[in-house]
Amino acid sequence: MSKAANKLMLLGAPGAGKGTVAKGLTSQLGVAHLSTGDMLRAAVAAGTAVGRLAQGFMDAGQLVPDDVMVKLIDERTAEADCKAADGKPRFLLDGFPRTLPQADALDASGLGPEVVLFVDVPEEALLRRLTGRRSCPGCGAPFHIDFQPPKVDGICDACGTALVHRADDQEGPIRKRLDTYRAQTAPLVQRYADRIVRIDGTTAPAVVLEAALAAVAGKNQAQSAA
Ligand code: AP5
Repeated sequence: MSKAANKLMLLGAPGAGKGTVAKGLTSQLGVAHLSTGDMLRAAVAAGTAVGRLAQGFMDAGQLVPDDVMVKLIDERTAEADCKAADGKPRFLLDGFPRTLPQADALDASGLGPEVVLFVDVPEEALLRRLTGRRSCPGCGAPFHIDFQPPKVDGICDACGTALVHRADDQEGPIRKRLDTYRAQTAPLVQRYADRIVRIDGTTAPAVVLEAALAAVAGKNQAQSAA
């Protein structure tokens, strides 16, 4: 019998398509989607203490401090939808961990990922993806003015909310986010070398999703054979 991986993680640069492929993966696999970017944007919109602290870092393209993020994920992963029927953890991490200390904290709590899907897109393609992105503040669905336009201009296909252009999707913050990714997040590729699967993120979204599903299935088979 196959032993399914229950702790999945997406890794990739800003704009690589993590949120896009996460939507497909969560609906196909029935796994909770833990996007730390979405959680922080919801906290900012609600005006919570975490949101007030995070906003300046996010708008500047910098990372929110590790202790804040670790607490956020500790609390979120304790919720019922992050557990399988047998009570074991089951989720898809999107945007966490993003630093080596965050990865250490996740391991220490026994929640380290079993499979890491690395969505790989060359840096020159990312700027266009991010400047053209429009995001849904209602359900988090990402769109793109050229690559993935909504059916009705400016309106989310999924929930009908008016789309927004994120404050950090301007050229200055994007360049800072890419610098931050290179310095603090890219080392995780090496950290997770024993469980990482590279996905070509330059193909169409449906092809990326297919590759991600195949990678999860392939990993599952490898684990069941182990
Ligand atoms: P977060 O929201 O996680 O931002 P990010 O990592 O920069 O990722 P993005 O959401 O920008 O991109 P994505 O890879 O999801 O791409 P998407 O699918 O939207 O974090 C925001 C901020 O929060 C951070 O900067 C930081 O301040 C803070 N933060 C979050 N987590 C943190 C943590 N753990 N620690 C500290 N701080 C943290 O796609 C992008 C565009 O491309 C879209 O327009 C989409 O339509 C298009 N697209 C997607 N796939 C394709 C494709 N295959 N072909 C063509 N176009 C495509």
